[in-house]
Amino acid sequence: MNLPNLIPKKSQLSESRTGSKGSFGHFLEKGKIDLSHGEMLYIEDLEVSFDGFKAIRGLNLDIRVGELRCIIGPNGAGKTTMMDVITGKTGPRNADVKGRVFLGQTIDLLKLNEPQIAQIGIGRKFQKPTVFENLKVWENFELARKTDKSWYLSLNASLDESAKDLIAQTIQKVGLEEQAFEDAGLLSHGQKQRLEIGMLLMQQPELLLLDEPAAGMTDEETMQLADLLNSLRGTCSIIVVEHDMEFVAALSGNDGIVTVLAEGSVLSEGTMQQIKNDPKVIESYLGR
Ligand SMILES: Nc1ncnc2c1ncn2[C@@H]1O[C@H](COP(=O)(O)OP(=O)(O)OP(=O)(O)O)[C@@H](O)[C@H]1O
Ligand SMILES: [Mg+2]
Repeated sequence: MNLPNLIPKKSQLSESRTGSKGSFGHFLEKGKIDLSHGEMLYIEDLEVSFDGFKAIRGLNLDIRVGELRCIIGPNGAGKTTMMDVITGKTGPRNADVKGRVFLGQTIDLLKLNEPQIAQIGIGRKFQKPTVFENLKVWENFELARKTDKSWYLSLNASLDESAKDLIAQTIQKVGLEEQAFEDAGLLSHGQKQRLEIGMLLMQQPELLLLDEPAAGMTDEETMQLADLLNSLRGTCSIIVVEHDMEFVAALSGNDGIVTVLAEGSVLSEGTMQQIKNDPKVIESYLGR
């Protein structure tokens, strides 16, 4: 494997390739999803039952293009189930699902299966990092590339310049330049989580779903992750489910919207300040 120039210095990355602010927005294929109304995800009256038990009951949610939305709520509130529905893991094929789940104006996610939804631009990160431990960090990024799903082939194929650029930018973005040529298995938990987020970014998602990404992280790793996610603002829409309130505060700032789920529907929605002062939220979640 010969990749001596894989990680160009920042100054070597041409402005036109990196985008003016170092984002890689021009790589995104936004055309597939109709975002003309500024809406990325629209969930209306969603109900999901498993053998008669309603895990989601009348859920409504609206995520704007480029928004970073935090979702909090007690155990069993239906947060993971909601992500399962958005990504097609749970759908009319394997559960009792009612309501509407739309990506942009036109894509009915309840009609698509999991691979189709991944293909169309929804990336999901589960709690446990799933990286290729025996491969170098950069090889993990290369395998995650969108263009060639047959990754055995892509690993041996020579990388074109734009692919190298994208890998280099993504490695920089997630702060793993120094680890690029190390085995992924040697990374810390926090670094592995950032690696996996970087691998998702290689697929240039329109919508990224992160389920408790800060779990098991040190305080320092948690804040590094918050910085990373904040830096992605505007690149894609992001939904973060999290229990760590400091992390949520770091992501939502003063005016970001936080959604509180409880018993399968939205209990409250508003800025961090509004949520914290909502008696319903204090009673069902924060006060406990
Ligand atoms: N496949 C399934 N079959 C039966 N019940 C399920 C299934 N998936 C989820 N549930 C139930 O649905 C409810 C919501 O679960 P879910 O995992 O979505 O909650 P959560 O908000 O993610 O909780 P946590 O904060 O603990 O991760 C729970 O009562 C759970 O037991
Ligand atoms: Mg969960």
